[in-house]
Amino acid sequence: MTDVLTAQDPTATDETWWRQASVYQIYPRSFADANGDGIGDLAGITERVPYLASLGVEAVWLSPFYPSALADGGYDVDDYRDVDPKLGTLEDFDAMVAALHGAGIRVIVDIVPNHTSDRHEWFREALAAPAGSPARDRYVFRDGTGPAAENPPADWVSIFGGPAWTAAGDGQWYLHSFAKEQPDLNWANREVRDDFLHTLRFWSDRGVDGFRIDVAHGLSKDLGEVLPTWAELSAMPKDGTHPLWDRDDVHEIYAEWRKVFDEYTPARTAVAEAWVAADRRARYASADGLGQAFNFDLLEADFDAPSFRSIIEFNLGLAEQSGSSTTWVFSNHDVVRHATRYALPPQNGAAEKQGGAWLLAGGSPDALDQELGLRRAQAATLLELALPGSAYMYQGEELGLQEVGDIPAADRQDPAFFRNPGVDVGRDGCRVPIPWTRDGSSFGFGSGGSHLPQPAWFGGFSVEAEDDDPDSTLNLYRKALGLRGQLQSEERLEWLDTGRDDVLAFRRPNGWTNVTVFGDEPYELPAGALLLASAPVADGALTGVGTAWLRA
Ligand code: GLC
Repeated sequence: MTDVLTAQDPTATDETWWRQASVYQIYPRSFADANGDGIGDLAGITERVPYLASLGVEAVWLSPFYPSALADGGYDVDDYRDVDPKLGTLEDFDAMVAALHGAGIRVIVDIVPNHTSDRHEWFREALAAPAGSPARDRYVFRDGTGPAAENPPADWVSIFGGPAWTAAGDGQWYLHSFAKEQPDLNWANREVRDDFLHTLRFWSDRGVDGFRIDVAHGLSKDLGEVLPTWAELSAMPKDGTHPLWDRDDVHEIYAEWRKVFDEYTPARTAVAEAWVAADRRARYASADGLGQAFNFDLLEADFDAPSFRSIIEFNLGLAEQSGSSTTWVFSNHDVVRHATRYALPPQNGAAEKQGGAWLLAGGSPDALDQELGLRRAQAATLLELALPGSAYMYQGEELGLQEVGDIPAADRQDPAFFRNPGVDVGRDGCRVPIPWTRDGSSFGFGSGGSHLPQPAWFGGFSVEAEDDDPDSTLNLYRKALGLRGQLQSEERLEWLDTGRDDVLAFRRPNGWTNVTVFGDEPYELPAGALLLASAPVADGALTGVGTAWLRA
């Protein structure tokens, strides 16, 4: 049946490139440091374009590289239309885009519209201006309570822990859903809206192909005259009418953005980071809005065949409903790496599953079954890459890199760690600069050390260590991404009966077949030419946990 395989889906024209793209997330400060100051930079990315091309990804998504005091890893933006001097210049950005485009790789940048940093010129102006001024109206200011307004307007808690209101010093307080250095913008203000349209055009004009929208479900707010208490707020349904989250009218903002995206050819794309109930996700993915939305369901799931199957079915259904394609993600800069999540001791609740309990207990590598974690992670990734829709990968996962769980408190950077002592260890462990060489200064990250400490075991996961090893995770990713490019098919799948609860098998319309074994027992593969396997195949059987691709 090999003749049914086509090199590329003929409908994958420029306008639809994003529908089934393989996207590699770069966390720029931790990718490659060209100028040796211990922080990754844009020139470092440009130098590594051949590596990205050898990996075979179709697009990169860059976490923020804008000027920032790094109170939240760059998600505290001082200026949306510039590059942080620590990371380079706008000219470096243009050179990077040219190099990536030259290698056939598209560029997605991160837009952070829910909040600016407290160093943004608007916020400085707001603090200097009186209550009720137009400068304050760009943010969310309210009078404090108590005789001298010494108490916050409400007892709300920020997502990183601690109070969500900080005093402005004159009796007023400002809202920050995240760290106090991240004041929330007021999206009812027309100037705020226009400025972001300007930013979207600014980067689109510089050749950016798409945008990842941070906290896309938070922009629209309706606080009312009397603020609810935190308990009341927490009890309110998130059905489109909540004062803070996932309000129906947020989509009016994205309808305006869509008009800007469509001014370009091909139209610029966007993907929403919207942590909303699954049945409310389709609206963010609508063609009149952002066009695509992240689905974190597999990231949150156990490594379990029935859970995976129901999540896949559900999300393919949602994609059909919205006319968008679905997205898949196992790792990003906010969660414990999936090779480590799958290596944790048997899990009970959500916190254990996501590595929270392990991190709080010291994050020792000894507490992990790293071999099992890696085997499962490889199996999961191959399955992900065979699914209809776009696959978002996070730098380092192609090396099978494990989370660094035991970063000393003195070296930690994540505001979640500082704002929530003893409750949240934060996200630094997946943001440690990635290892390029077996040894040497910061394992080849740069000549000036690393802004987060790298453990001694990092060298074993380096690009250098894996490059020539045909059985390495890196070469598995390369083969898988290469094959995916050739085999890509219509956005559908057909489930195959496997006769086992712990085995999933599906076939794409062109015969590309994926078999994933979640348990330990060998599983005899169906007929067809074996293209790739993440685990040994003996006598035609996948030997325990693993994924195989066949041409059936
Ligand atoms: C998003 C980002 C996260 C950041 C937060 C606040 O969730 O992914 O890294 O801390 O928004 O901007």
